[in-house]
Parts: sequence; C-alpha cells; structure tokens
Amino acid sequence: MKRALVPGTFDPVTEGHLDIIRRAAKLFDEVVVAVAASAGKGPSGPLFSLDERVSLVEQSVGGLSNVSAVPFEGLLVDLARSTQATAVVKGLRAITDFEYEFQMAAVNFELSPEVETVFIMSPPQYMYLSSSIVRELAQLGGDFGRFVPDCVAQALAEKFAE
Ligand code: COA
Repeated sequence: MKRALVPGTFDPVTEGHLDIIRRAAKLFDEVVVAVAASAGKGPSGPLFSLDERVSLVEQSVGGLSNVSAVPFEGLLVDLARSTQATAVVKGLRAITDFEYEFQMAAVNFELSPEVETVFIMSPPQYMYLSSSIVRELAQLGGDFGRFVPDCVAQALAEKFAE
C-alpha cells in the first residue's frame, strides 16, 4: 500500500492543483491532500478558513475513490509519519518554483529521509495559474470559471459578495 501526501495551502484549490492530485492518484494507492493552516500567509492569512479549504478539496475530489483531504499544522514530515505516507507529491509549474521546492525537499529529506518528494510537471495550460491569481480575478470581476471547479467558483462568488 503506497500512500502519498499532496500538501499545500489550497486557498482555494484550483484546476492546476486538481491536475496534480488526479495524476498522483494514478501513481499511488492512496493520496491524502494535506491542507496546511498557513496562518501566516498573506497580510491577513488565507481568504478561506481551514475548514472551508478542506471542504472545497473534498467536494472537488469527490469522484476519486482513493483521495481524501485532511487539515494539518506543524511539520509535513510529522504528518507523513502519522499517516504512514512514504511520499510527498508537489507540482512544478515553472522554473521559478524550482529553487523553493528544491529547498523544501532538501529540508524534508534531512528531517525524514524515508519520505520521498516526487515532482509532477504542470501542463502548459496551468503553468501560470496560482490561487492568488484566481482570488484576484474573482475580486476584480474577471472570468475565473475555467480555472476552478464549480464548487470553488460558487464559494468565491459568495465570499466576494459578502
Ligand atoms: N497549480 C496551481 N497553483 C499551484 C500549484 C499547482 N499545481 N502548485 C502550487 N500552486 C500555487 C498555490 O496556489 C499558491 O499560490 P498563492 O501563493 O498564489 O496562493 C502557491 O503556489 C504556493 O503554494 P502553497 O500551497 O502555499 O504551497 P507551498 O509550496 O508554499 O508549500 C506547504 C506549502 C504547506 C506544503 C509547506 O509550507 C509545508 O510543508 N509546510 C509545513 C511546515 C514544514 O514542514 N516545514 C518544513 C519544510 S520547508
């Protein structure tokens, strides 16, 4: 039984993330999407609460029987240990991701060499996509529908209508 974590902030989950999750689900028996609290991210923290982000991931991966989502705080390698995951899967979009990902993979390897970091290349249509781009489009009235699943589009519309 090979279990992998796909970690991130997912504020909110996008089609770019889902592409990586779907492909990871073909490579591993089980995939656990690890939604980080990331309380320090941005000036006022994430737009969506941790519970909302987990719920949006769960709704988005509903059709994938070997994928689940959990919230987490603390070290990723500790979550890997407690969930008995042996791999961490990350998406690589552009060369700009590489240095940061390289650093995180190296630290995680130092902390827990039994957990492998596996990189999956994003396809060209998602290489420029990020959650903050989607949040900005939603806030400024741009067309963001094709970048996110329907449940996320609806949640964003509600968030910015508040
Ligand atoms: N498609 C679309 N967007 C993607 C993407 C993809 N495939 N992969 C990453 N992104 C975007 C995200 O949407 C996010 O966009 P934003 O900054 O515009 O909101 C951005 O890339 C960064 O992604 P994020 O999810 O915040 O992940 P990260 O690579 O910064 O890592 C954790 C976050 C939680 C995985 C990492 O900080 C972690 O492991 N924390 C735990 C603490 C720890 O163990 N530390 C020691 C290791 S260094």
